[in-house]
Amino acid sequence: MSKQLNATPTKNEKLVKWVNEWVAICKPDAVYWCDGSKEEYDRLCNELVESGLAIRLNPAKRPNSLLFRSDPSDVARVEARTFIASEKKEDAGPTNNWIDPKELKKTMLGLYDGCMKGRTMYVIPFSMGPVGSNIAKIGVEITDSAYVVINMEVMTRVGTKVLDVLGDNGEFVPCVHSVGKPLAPGESDNGIWPCAPMDKKYIAHFPETREIWSFGSGYGGNALLGKKCLALRIASVQARDEGWMAEHMLILKLTNPKGEVKYVTGAFPSACGKTNLAMLIPTIPGWKVETVGDDIAWMKFDNEGNLRAINPEAGFFGVAPGTSMKSNKNAMLSCAKDTIFTNVALTDDGDVWWEGIGYDAPDHLIDWKGKDWKPGQVDAEGKPVKAAHPNARFTARACNCPAIAAEWEDPAGVPIAAFLFGGRRPSTLPLIYQAKSWEHGVFIGSTVGSEVTAAALDVKAGTVRRDPFAMLPFCGYNMGDYFKHWLEIGKKGAAQGNLPKIFCVNWFRKSVEGKFMWPGFGDNSRVLAWVFDRCNGDGAAKETEIGAMPTEDAIDLKGIEDEVSKADLAELLKVDVEGWKNELAMIKEHYKKFEGHLPAELSKQLEELEARLK
Ligand code: GTP
Ligand code: SPV
Ligand code: MN
Repeated sequence: MSKQLNATPTKNEKLVKWVNEWVAICKPDAVYWCDGSKEEYDRLCNELVESGLAIRLNPAKRPNSLLFRSDPSDVARVEARTFIASEKKEDAGPTNNWIDPKELKKTMLGLYDGCMKGRTMYVIPFSMGPVGSNIAKIGVEITDSAYVVINMEVMTRVGTKVLDVLGDNGEFVPCVHSVGKPLAPGESDNGIWPCAPMDKKYIAHFPETREIWSFGSGYGGNALLGKKCLALRIASVQARDEGWMAEHMLILKLTNPKGEVKYVTGAFPSACGKTNLAMLIPTIPGWKVETVGDDIAWMKFDNEGNLRAINPEAGFFGVAPGTSMKSNKNAMLSCAKDTIFTNVALTDDGDVWWEGIGYDAPDHLIDWKGKDWKPGQVDAEGKPVKAAHPNARFTARACNCPAIAAEWEDPAGVPIAAFLFGGRRPSTLPLIYQAKSWEHGVFIGSTVGSEVTAAALDVKAGTVRRDPFAMLPFCGYNMGDYFKHWLEIGKKGAAQGNLPKIFCVNWFRKSVEGKFMWPGFGDNSRVLAWVFDRCNGDGAAKETEIGAMPTEDAIDLKGIEDEVSKADLAELLKVDVEGWKNELAMIKEHYKKFEGHLPAELSKQLEELEARLK
């Protein structure tokens, strides 16, 4: 029998029944319902520190902050173990892994059987979106990881207030999570991050029944089930059925020197700059950027036909390496306190360090694997050893971000004027161009490509892969049908009024010497200013084969002339016809995958682009 540690705080029969069923399957020693209080958060943090699973950082340097080190095999999402288990394989589409839901449930029930023996099962009622907002959705995650609980308490709205809104009959998305390694009697988790071997990890989604089952990983999007699993994979299915959008997008508020405001979203693949853009500090005078969200946007048309976005999250699960006071001051200040760090390095005085933090490493560190580390350290093959894992993360509260917009929790959302698409493209793709139409914009989104990053375990870094709408790992149904949904949103928006303008950006162009040609970060404001003006019907532009591009003086280079000459800018804004012909061939290859589901409008866009480039 599992011991119940506190009283069941709900009369929702469906919820109570569901929890009881999983208690019977997982057989935890104890069951605890999370209330979302500060007292609870502090107590769990202390327990994690006492058990050796977490290190409390020096309160004088990082108040109220913890460091975790994951198992070296459990450091990022695992796309090869992520499944869309729809009734029909075709509904998962060519870009998702599929297993028959009955078969998958049978396999996973075998793994879940008794998996929580020796552990506590936590029940986490959470809201994605401001509690009670009509765009928000409620989920309930059960997990055997206190690390997951405290992360969920930062990343979402958790506890009693959510159960109050749920009421006795409300609907919720059930989310089951276990780290998966059963503990032998008497064995403790001391210093070890539990997780299952790769072939026993399953991040499973059942789109028809709106369920999430995750087993064997404790990391990020594999385990914090409100984020990629609910707010993107399951929500994308709900959005298709209900006529709205669930996207892997940052949301920012842009104010021009006249005080006019526009809201812009951007879809860039994982570790391609969403958090940085959402928090940027403009380097051109008079402009201001404030943050609404850094990873996910849920968007619906309002009665006036404006597409309004909310950020369903309450915190940032940001990439640490590369984050510095110079590249992203607002992110650095967001994680100055009340932060959970995962897989960064530890300094001797109890602070954190990572590559690209903006100052040299001290003479000694403990690296992300818990080993001694000194600057210049190399491995047996002479390769540099990183002190922090490239996908090391900080979990920080949105309310601690100095740039958070006053309206970031407005339940009605903010009206979106522009969408940006982009990825890491060392060649061909210019700094910016604007789509000719909504359909052309959907074509651009459907062909987003990027050099692969460290945000997922099992894809080869360095190669360009197509990541349509930055949703490749996050779309809960057939990607071809998702393209169609985008086209349908366009029809709906055109009938009602205000569709966002669509742009493609590339901060990552490289010179033949392999250096970034554009300074990026705060200087991206120079490009945002052109986007803003274009949305107002201003902004000097020339029509090209690929879309509208800024004229030579339309991007302000004042203050960076030393870094970016007029000639460099011309290169960044050139249509590289040969490069584009190569790109066309790659897009054709990419589109082949969607045969039978590729909307005719997109094939037409491809043909028209080819004709223009002839
Ligand atoms: P996820 O949280 O994985 O979805 O990532 P993200 O899209 O929020 O990416 P993030 O902003 O964390 O940036 C990832 C990496 O890209 C960091 O190492 C940044 O330093 C780097 N980066 C971000 N913006 C720029 C830029 O404008 N130029 C260059 N060169 N690098 C950038
Ligand atoms: C991403 O990979 O896009 C992330 C990190 O934002 S995770 O939460 O692990 O998905
Ligand atoms: Mn992301």
